Amino acid sequence: METLTANNLTLGYGEKIIIDELDIEIPKGKVTVLIGSNGCGKSTLLRSMARLLQPKSGEVVLDGNEIAKMNTKEVAKQMAILPQGPSTPEGLTVYQLVKMGRYPYQGVFKKWSQEDEDAVNKALEDTNLMDLKYQSVDELSGGQRQRAWIAMTLAQDTELILLDEPTTYLDMTHQIDILDLLFELNEKDNRTIVMVLHDLNLACRYADHIVAIKDKKVYESGQPEDIITCDLVYNVFNMNCDVTFDPLFGTPMCIPHGRGRCILAEAHAEKTGVQNNCVTTTLKAN
Ligand SMILES: Nc1ncnc2c1ncn2[C@@H]1O[C@H](COP(=O)(O)OP(=O)(O)OP(=O)(O)O)[C@@H](O)[C@H]1O
Ligand SMILES: [Mg+2]
Repeated sequence: METLTANNLTLGYGEKIIIDELDIEIPKGKVTVLIGSNGCGKSTLLRSMARLLQPKSGEVVLDGNEIAKMNTKEVAKQMAILPQGPSTPEGLTVYQLVKMGRYPYQGVFKKWSQEDEDAVNKALEDTNLMDLKYQSVDELSGGQRQRAWIAMTLAQDTELILLDEPTTYLDMTHQIDILDLLFELNEKDNRTIVMVLHDLNLACRYADHIVAIKDKKVYESGQPEDIITCDLVYNVFNMNCDVTFDPLFGTPMCIPHGRGRCILAEAHAEKTGVQNNCVTTTLKAN
């Protein structure tokens, strides 16, 4: 079982520092979700943990070895990453794209095997893409394309799977399908999952461990039940909200304030006595 940690990690582009002396430990065999506002450095951090971005200082350690010093294929056999908004080489079919996930297992002496073929087909089945297997990726919808990339990541068959906003572009059904699939990979195969999600409520349902990034550092980390509070949401996202319980799962559920349809909120407040900022703002404005 692989473990992934980063010590004293500083990341950036040119002179610009994005992540500053950050420490993070990814609990093995768990689902970790990174949260934080747009531009706070989640993708930067995820990419550096997968060795796609070299740190300015500090180190990322995979199973006791500094990944910067590891062989590319060795890293790729242990961890797969789905980056944010990947661009597909032109003219590839879904099958050809997903096959690329098997590259760590190919080599001069290792030809395409039944095991490779099975892994590709399983990934296509799990992401509900069998019908689109021979379709050109350029001709897919945004959501179908996102699933094809997820399939490629799964075909790599690694214990550690890093995904940057895997549910972007997906309709509600496919969002839940993908998150359930990742949950199953975690539950049944004990895979370690690290992903960036923007939907806090889904993050709370699926994460064992949440890491909130703010001001170039880890602001808070822990179980959703322990850390997701109005204060955290306000401090990390600069947004007022109520935090209640998901009626189905009992996990924290964040209800953002904001104006919404204020007339409805006013009527609701009158009926129930439950007010939010929207109502108070409207009342003040009146
Ligand atoms: N290749 C790059 N060159 C220069 N600056 C970059 C590059 N990639 C990202 N940045 C900058 O680094 C900062 C962090 O970007 P990053 O993509 O890590 O944020 P993020 O938390 O993933 O945001 P989002 O939620 O919007 O995906 C941003 O200010 C961004 O403009
Ligand atoms: Mg990002």
